[in-house]
Amino acid sequence: MHIQHTADDHRGGRHQRQHHHAQYNKHHAQESLTTRVSKLICAVFLSILFTVGLVTFILWLSLRPHRPRFHIHEFSIPSLAEPNGFSNVHVTYNVTAQNPNLDIGIYYDTMNLTLYYQDQTIAETPLLFPFYQSSKNTAIVYGTLSGPTLRINYARWIQLLAARKQGSVPFRLDVASSIRFKVSAWDSRHHKMHANCEIGVGSNGMLLESDKEKKCPIGITICYVEISVKVHEGGSVVGNKSLVAFCQGRKNSVTEEVVIGGDQQLRGGGVAGDGGLRMTVETVFKYRVLNWKTKIRHMGFEGFVRSGSEGNFSENIYLHKIP
Ligand SMILES: *[C@@H]1O[C@H](CO)[C@@H](O)[C@H](O)[C@H]1NC(C)=O
Ligand SMILES: *[C@@H]1O[C@H](CO)[C@@H](O)[C@H](O)[C@H]1NC(C)=O
Ligand SMILES: *[C@@H]1O[C@H](CO)[C@@H](O)[C@H](O)[C@H]1NC(C)=O
Ligand SMILES: *[C@@H]1O[C@H](CO)[C@@H](O)[C@H](O)[C@H]1NC(C)=O
Repeated sequence: MHIQHTADDHRGGRHQRQHHHAQYNKHHAQESLTTRVSKLICAVFLSILFTVGLVTFILWLSLRPHRPRFHIHEFSIPSLAEPNGFSNVHVTYNVTAQNPNLDIGIYYDTMNLTLYYQDQTIAETPLLFPFYQSSKNTAIVYGTLSGPTLRINYARWIQLLAARKQGSVPFRLDVASSIRFKVSAWDSRHHKMHANCEIGVGSNGMLLESDKEKKCPIGITICYVEISVKVHEGGSVVGNKSLVAFCQGRKNSVTEEVVIGGDQQLRGGGVAGDGGLRMTVETVFKYRVLNWKTKIRHMGFEGFVRSGSEGNFSENIYLHKIP
């Protein structure tokens, strides 16, 4: 009886254990089912996120505005090949601006043309703009520079003729434009850009064959926030000058004359030809690529000037960078 009871009890216990076991299995199955479902949801969610990201990236790639592309087709100074060309000097140019965007229009609000010879401006003119360019359209910018617009004096003409004898005369044509993109109903901010056509004119006065249809790259601009030039003599500043803030296009050089005098007298020693003077140039600037500017950078340069007995400083001194 006792034993039976025990057996009964035992049987009951086993039954109960079996029941527990089944419940445990069921619970386990339920649990793994929920993990599987949540894993599946997670995977679906992640792949949706990835697809949306990819589609957005592709849309951004295809819809983001591209800057116009500039090419030079013609450029000539025909009178360069004539015996009395100086009396009749004029320049003709033909540059195209292409809008490479599929669905984005471009407003050209201003466009200025500057012609350089050895980094000296020899012509500068605003073009008759503004205009709107629809997508995939090519605008032809052509014209003639002559008369007062063209700053070619006789001395420069002689330089051009000498360069012509060497084979080709190098020029740089800068097309500066202020543009806005039009994406459906939305207008972007202004973007200022410079297209730089580096070209050569052959001895016949025409654009070199190798430069025809040449692409005019769009350069990085450097914007100076501050340029400060100082002349030091024996530890004290004897002269200084700050230049006003300006932006400088690609391959552009700037010449500034710094006159130090008046109340800023150079004291005795510098003129007498002793230890000389130390000159420093400190610049604060930002790079600008299209509309994006880098953070402000600082750079300092210094060089030493030794004066002649007459007190003139005519040598070219190299200013090395101060770390
Ligand atoms: C300028 O160049 C383009 C492209 O070569 C040409 O189609 C166009 O006729 C030229 N325009 C002038 C006025 O020379
Ligand atoms: C073109 O020149 C005008 C007048 O000098 C100036 O106001 C304008 O900002 C210039 N535009 C560009 C794009 O450099
Ligand atoms: C720079 O020159 C100006 C006058 O032109 C003067 O007032 C200023 O104190 C000078 N600065 C230094 C650092 O010498
Ligand atoms: C200074 O000028 C004189 C004549 O103008 C010249 O002979 C001399 O070489 C010059 N000195 C320097 C250091 O350039």
